[in-house]
Amino acid sequence: MKIRAKISGVGMYVPENVVTNIDMQKFVDTSDEWITERTGIKERRFVTDGEANSDLAVRAVERALVQAQTKASEIELIIVATVTPDMMFPSTACLIQDRIGAKNAWGFDLSGACSGFLYALMTGAQFIETGRHKKVLVVGADIMSSIIDFQDRATCVLFGDGAGAAVLEPTADGDGILDAILCADGSGGTYLYMPAGGSRRPASHETVEKRMHYVHQDGKSVFKFAVRLMADVSAELLNRNGFGPADVKLYVPHQANLRIINAARERLNLREDQVAVNIDRYANTTSATIPSCLAEAQACGKLSKGDLVVLASFGAGFTWGSVLLRWGI
Ligand code: ACO
Repeated sequence: MKIRAKISGVGMYVPENVVTNIDMQKFVDTSDEWITERTGIKERRFVTDGEANSDLAVRAVERALVQAQTKASEIELIIVATVTPDMMFPSTACLIQDRIGAKNAWGFDLSGACSGFLYALMTGAQFIETGRHKKVLVVGADIMSSIIDFQDRATCVLFGDGAGAAVLEPTADGDGILDAILCADGSGGTYLYMPAGGSRRPASHETVEKRMHYVHQDGKSVFKFAVRLMADVSAELLNRNGFGPADVKLYVPHQANLRIINAARERLNLREDQVAVNIDRYANTTSATIPSCLAEAQACGKLSKGDLVVLASFGAGFTWGSVLLRWGI
């Protein structure tokens, strides 16, 4: 039987600092009612006291390793999906490798924005399927509070900080990753981006004064593309594998907006109980949304070995995709 990559452990971590919509009202011109109605978000977590990406990521990784009954020294590759690394370089993968003592691993960071975890998952899966590696660690971690402009009320209320991690290993049991479709359309780049801080516009007094080191977005356009593309790619993936809505145990969409999630659910003819939602508690944690949903579903007994799970994302780039797997824990 074909060797596939399966998730053998998942973990998540969010900072302790809870910021509710009511708290946000104190420093942003907004209201709990507006945020709840437009997005489904009630609260989010923000880091405090210099906590950075790798601090959250390491906590999520430790939990995933325990569940996978894997020692850090067994990990051969670490892939970190993030748009908010601790620093431009060295990579967060290297920082994590050192912190957890994964002495036998190489690794790198990957920039796929909200689709980062799916991009990383499928990259890691290739190394398992080819037999190159036996244990790969895939991480999605973002500190969105470090790049949101609290003067831009339509954007800052949407995001939170968090991390999720998964251990991948080979399986020949019929479980694991069955299929995936990953997409990108760079012509959507300016709908959602951070204008400065790279080589095009290095940091300067001017870029800081013009607030160019923050997320800039055309929310309405992003919304429209996300609704259509995320559902369509999942529908195509299910169809080409001969599955229908009733076969799906859990649909895990990127958590950007509850209205986007509900629209995708309706387009796919899924029931509410088939869809993972944690945006109400954590908001949009970018690359951490999907692994954190998986970790919560596993922790509360919602998933069993053999269950059909569909992951789906949409984000800056534009990037989007969907992954079909049989749960292997
Ligand atoms: N509090 C109160 N009022 C607000 C707020 C706020 N936080 N933000 C905007 N408003 C006001 C606007 O000023 C506007 O007022 P006006 O009519 O007087 O001009 C009004 O609310 C409506 O604003 P819209 O932008 O039309 O609101 P919309 O219904 O489009 O919702 C939102 C905005 C929530 C940003 C939505 O477009 C969205 O979710 N887009 C997707 C963006 C996204 O998820 N990006 C994340 C990254 S990509 C990803 O993860 C998929």
